[in-house]
Order: sequence, then C-alpha cells, then structure tokens
Amino acid sequence: MKTRITDLFGIQHPILQGGMHFVGLAEMAAAVSNAGGLGIITGLTQRTPEALAKEIARCRDMTDKPFGVNLTFLPSVTPPDYPGYVKAIIDSGVKAVETAGNNPQKWLPALKDAGIKVIHKCTSVRHSLKAEAIGCDAVSVDGFECGGHPGEDDVPNFVLLPRAAEELKIPFVASGGVANGRQLVAALALGADGINMGTRFIATQEAPVHQNVKNAIVAASELDTRLVMRPLRNTERVLANAAVDRLLQKERDLGPNMKFEDIIGEVAGVYPRIMQEGDMDAGAWSCGMVAGLIHDIPTCKELIDGIMAEAHDIIRNRLDRLDA
Ligand SMILES: Cc1cc2nc3c(=O)[nH]c(=O)nc-3n(C[C@H](O)[C@H](O)[C@H](O)COP(=O)(O)O)c2cc1C
Repeated sequence: MKTRITDLFGIQHPILQGGMHFVGLAEMAAAVSNAGGLGIITGLTQRTPEALAKEIARCRDMTDKPFGVNLTFLPSVTPPDYPGYVKAIIDSGVKAVETAGNNPQKWLPALKDAGIKVIHKCTSVRHSLKAEAIGCDAVSVDGFECGGHPGEDDVPNFVLLPRAAEELKIPFVASGGVANGRQLVAALALGADGINMGTRFIATQEAPVHQNVKNAIVAASELDTRLVMRPLRNTERVLANAAVDRLLQKERDLGPNMKFEDIIGEVAGVYPRIMQEGDMDAGAWSCGMVAGLIHDIPTCKELIDGIMAEAHDIIRNRLDRLDA
C-alpha cells in the first residue's frame, strides 16, 4: 500500500510505532522496521545523548530499513540535554524524528537542514495546524483513546481525524486506539495516510519488556484504563492497578490543591520497575483502551502482515462490493 506516509518515510506499509518510554529500545524499533513499518527509538529512555547514539548504532546493526527517534519535550524543572539529543540524532544519520509534547519549532531548522523528516504528535486540530505552519512534514493525530497523554480536550478519533482532514494539508496518521486492519481502513477513510500504534506493539514477541507487561495487556479489556493527573492538566491514560487506585484516591482527597510532589511515589521512576522487572503494581504506566482489542502476542511481522492482509481484504471484498 502506497500513501503519502510510506513515500515520506520510505517504508513499505503505512504503520508507525510511536515512541514509548522503556519500550522503544533498538530491539523494538528494528523489529517494526524489519516488518516494513517505521520503528521508533525513544530518545529520553537513553539517559545521555551518548547513550542514544549507541542505541541508534545498535538498531542499525539489526536493520537496514529506515527507523526514527522520538523526542518528547516535557515541562520540567531541569530539562534534559535537548541540544545534545538533537545533535546525536543528526550525527547518527537517522532520517525520521517523532516529536511530542511541547512545540518543536526551536529544533526544526537543525533537523530539516540535516534532511530529517519530522512528524509531530498532537491531540488537537489547533496543535496540528500549528505543526503544519512551523514546517513539520506530517502529524500524528492522537485521539482521546490513546495510551499515554491524550491532552485535555477529550476528542476521540472518530471526530478528531475527520476534523484534521478538513483542515490539514500535510499528511497525518491516526494514532490512539488502533490495533487491526479494520481500523487501518477506517483511518484511511477518515482522511489519514496511515496509523501509529503504541500499546499494540508492546504485546509482541520482540518488545523488550517483561512478559508480565505483555500478559497484562492481553488480559485487559477496553474498560481497564484510567485517566490520572487530570488535576495537574497533565492527563495520562494508564492501566488500572493498585498504585493507580491509590493515586486516584489522592486526587479525590486533595482536589485542585494536589501537587506533583503528592503523587511522586506513584509516577516517578516507575517505568524500569514495570517494563524490566515486571512489577505490575509499581506505579502508573501508559496503556490505551485498545487493550480490549489485543488478544495475542505475535511477532511484529505477523502483526503487520496480518493488519495489511485484513485491510486489503476489507477494501477488495467488502467496500468494493458495497460500492455497487
Ligand atoms: C507504555 C507507553 C509509553 C509511552 N511513552 C511515550 C513517550 O515517551 N513519548 C511519546 O511521545 N509518546 C509515548 N507514548 C504514546 C505512544 O507513542 C502513542 O502515541 C500511543 O501509545 C498511541 O495510543 P495507543 O496506545 O492506543 O496505540 C507511550 C505509550 C505507551 C503505551
């Protein structure tokens, strides 16, 4: 299948793997890219720009296909060494970057000068238009269903995607809630040029995370995620667990007075304990409602081939006939 997204990134299938903290290591990105999608290494999971450069080199040893790097711009008191990370990406020769969080404008000239294609992930039409205006090559439109940070507008993809299609000129992918070929066809019908998946890629053979994480996603239904940190306007969709129950109780008890310091125990530094040690109650970790559509743990190639086969089948054998 050829779309503006496959052309932009030089990939076979219009399927991207979103950056994921402590999941987007070289093994994950290489497996997705080898299967014909665009794998993404999560920049900030590497503690220094030097470590990121090594991770990119490790990924290159595992695939000769294009892959990218995610750079998440977080509000923080002591920001990470963003200039260093950007330089590491440029020096490595990677040609795709997924930005997320704050406006990436400051970094665009350097990235574009290096011939890097930038896809910015946003949760609203207004932020998508801003990304287009500042020169991003594409947008990942992340609906309210998504795992991770859905923003504060709460517009699900069935409305958000066609709204983006009404306004955007640059290509965009549907992000959030996607797991199968049926949804790829729907995303294309709604105006997207492909899909971006997070949670679905965690439940794959190659995802470099503890088996407990994969099993938890398969066991979860679409009713098992919760929204946390809403009072801080830093909403995150996470899988329900004991730590999340505790966190939500604090939100109810402290109300609008809640501060980040009050919930540090439930959110700070929990990813290594969950993703590497499989301690599933260690804290709040991002997971999408799409867990309800995830019933198996295939290889990335089986997953992507299955999505493409289902999409082609629906287009040829269902939609084409309906058009009679
Ligand atoms: C465990 C996990 C960690 C994530 N970490 C990041 C991150 O560090 N930066 C980022 O931009 N997005 C992050 N995301 C969001 C994904 O890139 C993607 O946008 C999202 O998962 C799409 O929704 P889905 O899970 O329904 O497919 C994360 C998602 C998950 C599930």
